[in-house]
Amino acid sequence: MAKKTAALIFGGVSSEYDVSCMSVSSVWENIDREKYDPVLLGITRTGEWYLYEGDIEKVRAHEWDADTENLKKAYICPDRSVHGAMVKTENGWEELYIDVVFPVLHGKNGEDGTMQGLLEIAGLPYVGCKVLAAAACMDKDVCHTLLKGAGIPQVKWLTYIKGVSDLNGAEKAVEHELGWPVFVKPANAGSSVGISKVKSPEMLKEAMDLAFEHDDKIIIEEAVQNPIEVECAVLGNNDLMVGGPGEIVPADEFYSYDAKYYNDESETFLKARISDEKAEEIRETAKKAYKILGCAGLTRVDFLIDGETGKTVLNEPNTLPGFTNISMYPKLIMDTGMSYAQLIDRLLELAVS
Ligand SMILES: Nc1ncnc2c1ncn2[C@@H]1O[C@H](COP(=O)(O)OP(=O)(O)O)[C@@H](O)[C@H]1O
Ligand SMILES: [Mg+2]
Repeated sequence: MAKKTAALIFGGVSSEYDVSCMSVSSVWENIDREKYDPVLLGITRTGEWYLYEGDIEKVRAHEWDADTENLKKAYICPDRSVHGAMVKTENGWEELYIDVVFPVLHGKNGEDGTMQGLLEIAGLPYVGCKVLAAAACMDKDVCHTLLKGAGIPQVKWLTYIKGVSDLNGAEKAVEHELGWPVFVKPANAGSSVGISKVKSPEMLKEAMDLAFEHDDKIIIEEAVQNPIEVECAVLGNNDLMVGGPGEIVPADEFYSYDAKYYNDESETFLKARISDEKAEEIRETAKKAYKILGCAGLTRVDFLIDGETGKTVLNEPNTLPGFTNISMYPKLIMDTGMSYAQLIDRLLELAVS
C-alpha cells in the first residue's frame, strides 16, 4: 500500500503553543512510518507558517523557528486545485500533496473551529471534531448552554459580555444565584489561563478583569466543593470507545496552569478512585455529551464530583486534549490495550472514513 502523507500542524497563536510543541513531538516520534510519511507544518507564536525539516528536539524545546536552515515558507492552500500545501523552494512555490492532516493544536486558533474551517475549505481530511463541535466545545458558555438543554448535569453559571452586561451587578448576582466561592473564567481560553478561584466579593472585580484580558465574554461558575476531578477519553465517530475515567489530583488549590505543566506534585490515577457504578455512569454521560455536541475523532470529557455529596457535573470537553505519550488522553486509551502508535493510526483512519 502506498504511504500517505500526514501533515502534523503545530504551534499557533495560542496560549497553549508550548503544549502543542510537546504534543506534536510525541506524535512525530510514534507515528507508524510504514503507513505514513509525516511532515511538520509549524505556525509560530505570531502566526507565520513553515514546513520544518529539522530536529524534532528543537520543536519540543520550542526553538524550531530559530533553526532557519530547516525552514521553508509553507501554507495549507485553500484553493482545491492543490491538495495540500504550497511550499517555497529554491525553484519557487511548489505543491506538497497531503493526504490527511493532524492539527496537533490546543486552544485558540487550533481547537476552536478556525483551523477546522480552513481545512474544510481546503478539502483536506483531518483528525478530530469538525467546525461546529470544535467551536461549541471551546466556548464554555455555549457548551454549558447546549449540555444543559440536553439534560447533562452542569454547574450553575452566569455569563458576562463586555459592553453588554451589567458588570457592577456581578457581586449581587453571585450572592443571589451562586454563593461563594466561584470560578471566574474567560469563555474561550484553555490550560487554566485567565481562571481564578474567588472566595469573597472583594476579589471578584480583579478576577473578572483578568478573565476579560483573554476574551470579551467571561463566565462565573459556582465552585464544586472538595472536587474529585475525573476525565474520560472518548474515541470514534459513530461507534465510540471510552477510556477511563482517570483522576487528577492537582498540586495547587485547583488545576492551574502551573499545576498542569510545571508542578510535578500534581498526581494522576489511570483508574479514578470512585466506585465502578459511578465510573460507568460517567462513561455513559461522556458518550452522550460527545454525541450531543457532535464530536468526531477524539475528545477528552472532564467531570467534577462533589467530594461531600457525590453529585457529578460535566466540567468541559477538550476536543484536542494534551497529546504527548504521557498525557491523560493517550494514557487512558492505552490503558484499554491500544498502543500510542495504534491510537495515532486510528485517529488518522477516522479522519478519512
Ligand atoms: N466550577 C468549578 N468548581 C471547582 N473547580 C473548578 C471549577 N471550574 C474549574 N475548576 C478547576 O479549575 C481547573 C480549570 O478549569 P477548566 O474549566 O477546566 O478550564 P481549562 O479549559 O482552562 O482547562 C479545573 O481543572 C478545576 O481544577
Ligand atoms: Mg480543563
